[in-house]
Amino acid sequence: MPLVTSTEMFKKAYQGGYAIGAFNVNNMETIQGIVEAAKEEKSPVILQVSAGARKYANPVYLKKLVEAAVETTDLPIVLHLDHGDSFEICKDCIDMGFTSVMIDASSHSLEENIKITKNVVDYAHDRGVVVEAELGRLAGIEDDVKVHADDAQYTDPAEVYEFVSRTNVDSLAIAIGTSHGAFKFKGEAKLRFDILEKIGKLLPNFPIVLHGASSVPQNLVEVINKYGGNMPGAKGVPEDMLRKAASMAVCKINIDSDIRMAITATIRKYFSENPSHFDPRQYLGPARLAVKEIVAHKIRNVLGSSNQI
Ligand code: G3H
Ligand code: 13P
Ligand code: ZN
Repeated sequence: MPLVTSTEMFKKAYQGGYAIGAFNVNNMETIQGIVEAAKEEKSPVILQVSAGARKYANPVYLKKLVEAAVETTDLPIVLHLDHGDSFEICKDCIDMGFTSVMIDASSHSLEENIKITKNVVDYAHDRGVVVEAELGRLAGIEDDVKVHADDAQYTDPAEVYEFVSRTNVDSLAIAIGTSHGAFKFKGEAKLRFDILEKIGKLLPNFPIVLHGASSVPQNLVEVINKYGGNMPGAKGVPEDMLRKAASMAVCKINIDSDIRMAITATIRKYFSENPSHFDPRQYLGPARLAVKEIVAHKIRNVLGSSNQI
């Protein structure tokens, strides 16, 4: 099966009250771990590439690795650009065969965001590619741009209908209290489900995207800290909140930090327990397995997308 767009996936997910996992990829082992989990769980999956990933791995390598995943699994896979910040990067990805792109012009004014997004939508739709945009601003790190907590803004439901109808965008990332990275909440985790509910009512059947949705599992924080790491106070979105979001209008849930932590915890422990080993396959193999395990858990117990292909 060739790469697919997310159109059918989101339609089924919306109706079925579950979400599709969108996992960030930067290297071979991560891609393999994710797609092996998706295959075992019989789940559709979105592999997403950020500007940082393109810089790190070279876009051609990532594209070819994803092609290898498609060829060896026969899964419905979407190849998505995460947080594209300009028309040019979106065009580049569309031209090289991505089936989905995100234009993140959320740091601009509403009018400017609409204009930039519409431009990308016109180019993408002419070529059979779907587009995600963002309205509202998440705190944390959006590629190279750091958004401070003070600058974060919840999405205003009143703007959503206008934004979607004027841009004709296919899905929308909203800000309801999540943020990127491993330090999401100082105190208790709180999400604005009232905003999500309002948006769901204003735009029935329209797929909403949740960024910054890592749960930052405390067992991984403990392993990292035990074996020389330093992540005191790391905290993520509780899994039951993600389940709730998935049962509402959220059809795509973005996860990057949890995978980074699974890899880091595994390798830190491995190095500590096997100081004489120096073959990268010896620690990258277990790291790949850790990616597979955490992604399978998400698909089965959080996203609810098992057995949906
Ligand atoms: O939203 C940000 C993603 O976690 C990607 O992070 O820009 O470090 O690749 P990155
Ligand atoms: P996390 O940092 O919570 O994994 O979010 C990732 C993300 O939103 C990528 O776009
Ligand atoms: Zn994001």
